[in-house]
Amino acid sequence: MRALLVAAALLLIGLPPSSAAAASLAQRGLVVAEVRCQACHFLTRGQRRIGPGLLGVYGRAPSIRGVPFKVWDAAALDRWLTNPRAVKVNTPMYLAPLAARDRAAVIAWLKQNR
Ligand code: HEC
Repeated sequence: MRALLVAAALLLIGLPPSSAAAASLAQRGLVVAEVRCQACHFLTRGQRRIGPGLLGVYGRAPSIRGVPFKVWDAAALDRWLTNPRAVKVNTPMYLAPLAARDRAAVIAWLKQNR
């Protein structure tokens, strides 16, 4: 019975109705952020940890110096999260490689919480 419930839940996760696809991507992005960003960033608005709070970042200008972006949009965030040091050599943000689908999920979550 338990296995059946798990299988049903996996089926639901695996086959989101298309209208919910963006929401479910963002939901996955929150999990990625908890695992990969939270050590250095509070997942809140404004409050600083090692780096700035992550909520509200999407769609606004960078609060940090030395990055060549006017605004944190999906393309800028994708470049930053692919390799922060390729964007800003001396940045203290160290991020072990993040898979493209995890970057997309985290960016969807940031966009949802702009
Ligand atoms: C090892 C600590 C660390 C980890 C892990 C980390 N960051 Fe950072 N992050 C920083 C620091 C420090 C800065 C400030 C960088 C600077 O000033 O060059 C920063 C800056 C940023 C900024 C710029 C914010 C602004 O206000 O302009 C974004 C966006 C960001 N990080 C996103 C993320 C995301 C998303 C993750 C997880 C996938 C992540 N970071 C993981 C330490 C980290």
